[in-house]
Amino acid sequence: MASLETIHVPVLIVGGGIVGLSASLFLSHQGVNSLLIERHSGTSIHPRARSVNARTMEIFRTIGLSDLVREAGASLAPTWGIYSGTSLKSVIETKPRRENRKGASLVRSAEIGPEDGVFVTQDMLEPVILKAAREIGGDVRFYSECTDVEQYEEYVTARIRNRETGNSIKVTADYLIAADGANSPIRSQLGVTTTGRGTMGNLLNILFHADLKDIVLNREFSLCSIDSPEVVGILTSINNSDRWVFHLNYDPSKGEKPADYPPDRCKELLRIALGLPDIKIDIVSILPWQPAVRVVTKLQHGRIFFAGDAAHQMPPYGGQGANTGISDAYNLAWKLSFVLNGYANSRLLQTFDTERLPVGKTAAEASAGPADDRGLISIKRDLRTIMGWTRIIPLTSGYGYVYSSDSLAVVREDIWPLGGMTWKPWNAPSLFFSLDGRPGSRAPHVWVEKEGNKISTIDIFGKGFVLLAGSEGDAWVAALKTINEKFHGLGFTGYRVGPKGEIVDQGKKWEAAAGISSTGALLVRPDGYVAWRQRRMPTDVYAMLEDVLGEILCL
Ligand SMILES: Cc1cc2nc3c(=O)[nH]c(=O)nc-3n(C[C@H](O)[C@H](O)[C@H](O)COP(=O)(O)OP(=O)(O)OC[C@H]3O[C@@H](n4cnc5c(N)ncnc54)[C@H](O)[C@@H]3O)c2cc1C
Ligand SMILES: *[C@@H]1O[C@H](CO)[C@@H](O)[C@H](O)[C@H]1NC(C)=O
Repeated sequence: MASLETIHVPVLIVGGGIVGLSASLFLSHQGVNSLLIERHSGTSIHPRARSVNARTMEIFRTIGLSDLVREAGASLAPTWGIYSGTSLKSVIETKPRRENRKGASLVRSAEIGPEDGVFVTQDMLEPVILKAAREIGGDVRFYSECTDVEQYEEYVTARIRNRETGNSIKVTADYLIAADGANSPIRSQLGVTTTGRGTMGNLLNILFHADLKDIVLNREFSLCSIDSPEVVGILTSINNSDRWVFHLNYDPSKGEKPADYPPDRCKELLRIALGLPDIKIDIVSILPWQPAVRVVTKLQHGRIFFAGDAAHQMPPYGGQGANTGISDAYNLAWKLSFVLNGYANSRLLQTFDTERLPVGKTAAEASAGPADDRGLISIKRDLRTIMGWTRIIPLTSGYGYVYSSDSLAVVREDIWPLGGMTWKPWNAPSLFFSLDGRPGSRAPHVWVEKEGNKISTIDIFGKGFVLLAGSEGDAWVAALKTINEKFHGLGFTGYRVGPKGEIVDQGKKWEAAAGISSTGALLVRPDGYVAWRQRRMPTDVYAMLEDVLGEILCL
């Protein structure tokens, strides 16, 4: 590679799918320069993933993007539920038209978080992320393919070929994020192994135009499973009007292959699936794909980190693929920033594996639960299917996990004598999701007031560590000044939360939600997860904070 033009970047991102683009955005948000290369000419034209869960929306909210994301999904807002039958017409005509259905607000009404999940297709969402990433300085280059990666003790090198000009350049980087998708070439190049059930079925993802607006109006659905003698598959709503996707099942064991399904045959089958023999159909594209479970055995390989489908491929039935990948990127971005800025030892990066690998693995395995033998979503009411759904449902909002204190960035709490239980009244966030302030959990959401504005506690996180103390926690906030002098540049902030605090919380809801007394505090990481909880004020606040920070930053 010696004679090639060489550029250096702190982080190279390979793959400009939803996860790579998110990584670019999050790194810029943390002040880290990156270069993203994507071999296609632009973002995905296929709708693909549609669900952005509540936790992902919270992340976008932190970056100031949640309104734009909601807007991008506006046409899917009335979508709700799963239908099944022998044709769309035969099913939908049994459903009454709903009157003015408002979107379900499960997360907000249960006071779990400030945002609800929304439906947005990937082709609408990716441009929103791309634009935001570029606006805050992300260098994103399309038509660029990574053809070779090499790794050394101190850096990574990659050869990047411009597919338009055929010219190559060499990039050296401190770290590389491999967000290069389910068939990850980097995974193959490094010989990284995967585990899991593997391929579960064979589908053709048919994107088509057909005007179904009137027939679905006020009875919009998410998925309609079709099982008839001529055609088996799933109809998916894309804009509730004239854009639709049908996941058509074919069977290689009967000698079938994608080439047996040219556009004219697909049109015929779609008319049968819709139950509308005369409807005008335009086929936009036909994409063969296989739902599968494949999870790498390790996310970090030296200076290379796998994220998204490259790390954990999963069937789409829990809507976890894109969401899990976005959270991977959010988890990694602040850690890379802290290490590159010299605030943390590079051992902090090991926590990417400790924290994210179990999440990816669980999401992948649970996503296979609601699938049938053909890899399609199962609508049967047998025990196996019901058990499958029971596993995936708690994960769908994006809150169903807590990082273990095996992670160096989560400080184990002394749980004697109550086993970690807090004295606050139980509610949905604590009972179902362990979002009760315990270390490793997503820090609790409470509506509060800051400088006269109503905000969520979640809105306080995103950059740097934040300490949120109880209503009598003055000494914590006072200690931060000295801490910031000692940990130069860290920009650690802290607030007293209570009726008279800098963060106004009239009902002292924060203390209850965080499981602390009026003199206790939660230390929250830049990704909004609790690093440490101290229920009461210790005798030497400064010494304790210094210890804990040193531990989390692996110093
Ligand atoms: C048909 C289909 C339907 C889906 N439906 C859903 C759903 O309903 N819900 C859900 O949650 N998920 C769904 N998914 C999964 C979802 O699309 C993925 O989880 C998500 O796209 C993962 O994002 P990613 O960025 O990790 O990978 P990808 O989106 O696959 O992006 C990887 C990118 O890397 C690029 N690349 C690869 N190698 C190189 C290289 N050497 N150099 C440069 N660029 C490279 C590729 O061109 C690609 O753009 C679906 C997937 C498919 C295929
Ligand atoms: C749905 O998609 C079609 C085809 O791209 C487009 O013409 C139409 O305006 C869209 N409708 C809505 C409601 O977004």
